[in-house]
Amino acid sequence: MSGRGKWGSKVGFILAASGSAVGLGNIWRFPYTVSKNGGALFVLIYLIAVLFIAYPVLIAEVSLGRFSNKNPVGAFKSIKTKGKWKYVGYLGVLTGFMILSYYAVVAGWTVGYFFKALTGKFAKMNNEAATQAYTNFTSNSLLQIILFTAFILLTVYVVSRGVSSGIEKFSKILMPVLFGILLLLLIRSLTMQGASKGLEFYLKPDFSAFKPRVILEAMGQAFFSLSLGMGTMITYGSYVNKRENLPSATAWVAFFDTFIAFVAGLIIFPAVYAAGMQATSGGPGLVFQILPVIFAKMPGGVIFGSLFFLLLSIAALTSTISVLEVPVAFFIDEKKWNRKKSALTVGAITIIFGVPSALSQGGNSFFSKLPLVNKGFLDLWDIIWGNLSLSIGAFFVAIFVGYIWKTSNALLEITKGTEKFKLAFFWMISIKFVSPVLILLIFLGIIL
Ligand code: PFF
Repeated sequence: MSGRGKWGSKVGFILAASGSAVGLGNIWRFPYTVSKNGGALFVLIYLIAVLFIAYPVLIAEVSLGRFSNKNPVGAFKSIKTKGKWKYVGYLGVLTGFMILSYYAVVAGWTVGYFFKALTGKFAKMNNEAATQAYTNFTSNSLLQIILFTAFILLTVYVVSRGVSSGIEKFSKILMPVLFGILLLLLIRSLTMQGASKGLEFYLKPDFSAFKPRVILEAMGQAFFSLSLGMGTMITYGSYVNKRENLPSATAWVAFFDTFIAFVAGLIIFPAVYAAGMQATSGGPGLVFQILPVIFAKMPGGVIFGSLFFLLLSIAALTSTISVLEVPVAFFIDEKKWNRKKSALTVGAITIIFGVPSALSQGGNSFFSKLPLVNKGFLDLWDIIWGNLSLSIGAFFVAIFVGYIWKTSNALLEITKGTEKFKLAFFWMISIKFVSPVLILLIFLGIIL
């Protein structure tokens, strides 16, 4: 299919948007960011950030997309023909390239781990063995490049087939099954010896550990997890039918996404302590070092382990699809390319950008520990694009919808498919004042 499409129904949109939102951000990035930021206090601030900053921005993006029926660049242009607003759209397109370039590397890990689980590699694995296996795996440069390239090509394939036939179909089956396995994992993890210490780390805030950085990280994580700040939800919103009830559809998406991330943390931290590890020492490998240990201690571990990593790969795929969709929709609408050419071109460029990330977990010593920042390339890219750039994008979306498009016009669009939007006042205050002011303050707090 070339050109634009539409979702089949409201459920179709909820599933596709949740497919975008639920992914490695929930199961890989959330626990890792919780561990980096000291535990429960971060979780608390995260929940507040979702409710007061990210959810209002989600409504703003989806309504802007549905109103303009365009990609992010076109959406800004269609409301404000002159001026610099389109650059916010361009930033989103660029961010899409960059996020995809490292996200696909981690997605490649999930595919590799699927095969490891399937071939019984996790049997009797303890925590040291799991850490060793992770290091061996990620420092195998050739394998890393093959896996992440394959993942990008797969994404290109799905995206080139078009909106509802590709994206919707995948999302429909995935969510319920993934959720079922998460529940099994949750039961196993909570019944491990030493689990309660993990629960304490995850659920009992230590207010003395507060640093302004924690808020920035929580906010960035909320945008990342809900796919905000780069125009994904503007693009997905543009495929939503005018009849659909936006407030309720977006509330479901935010709820699913947050719930799954929360459950992922409930699984990981008890197991971290049960395995005798330190919760604060996990880097990007945290989840990949812990999950095999849980599967090793679980009846039917081979089956559940394989199924889990398979589903996680698919969850990652429904997210990479949505990231790729942003630059692709841009080239279709603005440059009049066809879908296939757009997807292939963007995919090819992303593969080139992704190489440093693929080599950054031991494959190449320079990319694994960059001078000055003392971090791996993947970690650095995740901070710049996955956190800062999304926060900047979300800030401008709030300002644009609040003051240029104006909340009164946005509300007309939001309430098209429904008579009432109970949170209209809350939303208006959030988008005009709370979200932009908090984002700005958090940035200033970090810089100063
Ligand atoms: N929300 C996705 C996740 O949590 O895995 C990642 C993501 C998708 C980020 C789309 C940004 C985006 F535009």
